[in-house]
Amino acid sequence: MATLALLLLLASYVKAQASLFDIRKYGVVPNGDITMALQKAWRDACVSTTPSKVVIPSNKYKLRQIDFMGPCKAPIEILVNGIIKAPKNPFDVSGQNQWVRFGYINFLTLSGNGTFHGRGKMAWKQNNCSTNKNCKKLAMNFGFGFVNNSVIHDITSKDSKYFHVNVFGCKNISFTNFRVSSPAYSPNTDGIHIGKSTQVKITNSKIDTGDDCISLGDGSKEVTILNVTCGPGHGISVGSLGKYSNEDSVEDVIVKNCTLKNTNNGLRIKTWPGTAIISLASDLHFEDITMINVSNPIIIDQEYCPWNQCSKQSPSKIKISKVTFKNIRGTSATQEGITLVCSSGIPCETVELSDINLRFNGTTLVTAKCANVKPKIGRKAPICAT
Ligand SMILES: *[C@@H]1O[C@H](CO)[C@@H](O)[C@H](O)[C@H]1NC(C)=O
Ligand SMILES: *[C@@H]1O[C@H](CO)[C@@H](O)[C@H](O)[C@H]1NC(C)=O
Ligand SMILES: *[C@@H]1O[C@H](CO)[C@@H](O)[C@H](O)[C@H]1NC(C)=O
Ligand SMILES: *[C@@H]1O[C@H](CO)[C@@H](O)[C@H](O)[C@H]1NC(C)=O
Ligand SMILES: *[C@@H]1O[C@H](CO)[C@@H](O)[C@H](O)[C@H]1NC(C)=O
Ligand SMILES: *[C@@H]1O[C@H](CO)[C@@H](O)[C@H](O)[C@H]1NC(C)=O
Ligand SMILES: *[C@@H]1O[C@H](CO)[C@@H](O)[C@H](O)[C@H]1NC(C)=O
Ligand SMILES: *[C@@H]1O[C@H](CO)[C@@H](O)[C@H](O)[C@H]1NC(C)=O
Repeated sequence: MATLALLLLLASYVKAQASLFDIRKYGVVPNGDITMALQKAWRDACVSTTPSKVVIPSNKYKLRQIDFMGPCKAPIEILVNGIIKAPKNPFDVSGQNQWVRFGYINFLTLSGNGTFHGRGKMAWKQNNCSTNKNCKKLAMNFGFGFVNNSVIHDITSKDSKYFHVNVFGCKNISFTNFRVSSPAYSPNTDGIHIGKSTQVKITNSKIDTGDDCISLGDGSKEVTILNVTCGPGHGISVGSLGKYSNEDSVEDVIVKNCTLKNTNNGLRIKTWPGTAIISLASDLHFEDITMINVSNPIIIDQEYCPWNQCSKQSPSKIKISKVTFKNIRGTSATQEGITLVCSSGIPCETVELSDINLRFNGTTLVTAKCANVKPKIGRKAPICAT
């Protein structure tokens, strides 16, 4: 009887414990290259029929490039407490556009207080995307492609060569206590870029970078951004949309309780003029936002055309509707803090501003410039200058 009880106890213990795959058991030494070991550990963990955990303990390691591909047989966690360094030379990331790539996984957890250090300084110097339309794309720190029901928490992404994180084709993925860190002068280092994904959550995170803090590309749906601090960088951005002709719409976005500090945009919706097809950007809600020294705190720009890469002849065909800006406060680095320049072909519908308390140079309230939009002004908000 006692033996049976012990067996049952043991069975439940085994069930509760994830199988561990510590990379030290795969011949890894501190400061060593973990590429092969990590690939092997992942392969073993992925075929486990019970939940598994790959562990990278505190220490420094090198990693060339890795693909973590599913599907796996059970939930899988990668716990990283170490500092993992990328090759300095962009050429050495095996020609891949993502340094650490996750694909086709259900129930993934990436956790730990570890850092993925992209060592982007050399790559930033080679980046000429602002002058060269067909510039060579440098490696992003992370790619999550077709990953469902997954959580990334506590991890730091540092000095990526290009975007820090790309989320594509995912469903129900969240980033929490996530940290992105790269300097203001690092080009194209968007913090988290989302495309063709639903149920994406970014919470309790801090993102300092040289480009967009979070950018929502086409097909981003049911996105929640809560308690995120951005800056430096280019702020939180819906778009750019409408550059290509096969784009899906952006719908149901909530940005709440966020702080933007020293960013050159705050909350932005940007679409390219002159695209072929009609798509939507609707139900976009921005609420309880603090701006500190932000150059364009609120901006809808449907004539977005950086480096004259487009023709402004025909207006944008992206229809923007049901947008609210509510309780937006703090300081603007420009007098004209609100710009709502919508498409002359398809004007914006139902844009609401309320409780906007943005001040320029300490005292004066910001003004608003509007085109092709009749915003509904709720309690306390500047009226469009015409
Ligand atoms: C993720 O979810 C999508 C849509 O529900 C499904 O088609 C896909 O097979 C799932 N992927 C994995 C790896 O489970
Ligand atoms: C990270 O977590 C590990 C394991 O809990 C701990 O030993 C280590 O001190 C932590 N490192 C930092 C920098 O917090
Ligand atoms: C951009 O950089 C690449 C590689 O460094 C170089 O081959 C190319 O000529 C550059 N293009 C422009 C327009 O500067
Ligand atoms: C989303 O994923 C999390 C983490 O795996 C899971 O706990 C949760 O049940 C999922 N939510 C839905 C609606 O599937
Ligand atoms: C908000 O995020 C910060 C990290 O940036 C965290 O310290 C704080 O606890 C979060 N607040 C809540 C209510 O979770
Ligand atoms: C809201 O943001 C503030 C300032 O970052 C933070 O201290 C607080 O915890 C956040 N609250 C929630 C509910 O996220
Ligand atoms: C305000 O932001 C600008 C960049 O947009 C920066 O140059 C300036 O130093 C910031 N001012 C303060 C007081 O931080
Ligand atoms: C900002 O305010 C100071 C005094 O508070 C004033 O001297 C200065 O001219 C103002 N600058 C602008 C650009 O309005």
